[in-house]
Amino acid sequence: MDIIDRLYNRAKEKKGRILLPEAILDERVMQACIRLVADKFCNLVLIGKKEQYPIELKNSPLVKIIDPSNYDRFNEMIKLFTQIRKKNKYTREQAMEILADPRYFATMLVEMGEADGMVLGAYYTSADALRPALQLIKGKEGKMVVGSMLINRDDFTEPHLYLDVSLNENPNQEQLADIGVVGAEFYYNVLNREPKVAFLSYSTYGSAEGELISKVRNAANIAKANSKYIIEGEMQFDSAVVPDVARTKCPSSQIMGRANVFVFPDLNCGNISYKIAQRLGGCKATGPIMLNFRHPVNDLSRGCSVIDIYNTVVITKLQIEEGEN
Ligand SMILES: CC(C)(COP(=O)(O)OP(=O)(O)OC[C@H]1O[C@@H](n2cnc3c(N)ncnc32)[C@H](O)[C@@H]1OP(=O)(O)O)[C@@H](O)C(=O)NCCC(=O)NCCS
Repeated sequence: MDIIDRLYNRAKEKKGRILLPEAILDERVMQACIRLVADKFCNLVLIGKKEQYPIELKNSPLVKIIDPSNYDRFNEMIKLFTQIRKKNKYTREQAMEILADPRYFATMLVEMGEADGMVLGAYYTSADALRPALQLIKGKEGKMVVGSMLINRDDFTEPHLYLDVSLNENPNQEQLADIGVVGAEFYYNVLNREPKVAFLSYSTYGSAEGELISKVRNAANIAKANSKYIIEGEMQFDSAVVPDVARTKCPSSQIMGRANVFVFPDLNCGNISYKIAQRLGGCKATGPIMLNFRHPVNDLSRGCSVIDIYNTVVITKLQIEEGEN
């Protein structure tokens, strides 16, 4: 069974209100909304005027449509927005102007608890889709939001998680450590599997030395000290995934060639690697899945299909934490 099919069954049991702010901007999003409602998969929050939506959405008890031009909590929204962005010292008029942008209005709806999570990016570029959420929702405990990719193939015993593949360009060792910890938590809490995290390098436990290696080694050590999960590194990719190689290169490894969470040293490595797995390795790549937002927000590719949007909603719903709805 495909990983998403398995996740779907769990996600369906959960409660969750997902905001899809691009439905009236993009027909694929509208079609995904219609399917989600037909499947009674989740509650939806949509933006616009009722008459802009087809009957199966505007008449559904699962759908709440919020009209920005007639939103009864708009004053509260302006206040909260200016408070979160106090360093910008926005006037009320400036705040109103920014909130007229559907991305900012939608992000504030999540922040105000009108929805538990949000999916966007079919219409907007990734950076434009995510910037409001990075500015307003931010990462948990002030830490970084991380872009991850779920990599799977029929013959894998479990899915792999690659990170960071889309957001943090050149993390320092502390940031890289956080990326590994956040990845392990997602693998355990959302995928419901035991993470085995490998911090990847061109060296396995001191087989070579250099600045690039030290960063990965130090990051792995910091992550180990801050996580209850199995975390190892620095190690080469073959030490992480081939048991025979692990026996030779790192005989005391607990992972022993069965890593499932891969932390790449920078964005070049992470992004290139997942594309190699996808384009030459015959793997299915699902994502990017954004980890560590205070409320789940996920970004779509502008080339996404209706199914991709639906699947992103499945993952977003699973990322909602207990007590959030
Ligand atoms: C997403 C991205 C494009 C936003 O960049 P930007 O528009 O130049 O915005 P900034 O870097 O000024 O960041 C805007 C806010 O988001 C925050 N932010 C940026 N990246 C963040 C991250 N990974 N985690 C948490 N917060 C982050 C910044 O701290 C800043 O907050 P502030 O305004 O309160 O100070 C940026 O993270 C980036 O350039 N990433 C590199 C990779 C890339 O281009 N990815 C494409 C998008 S997937």
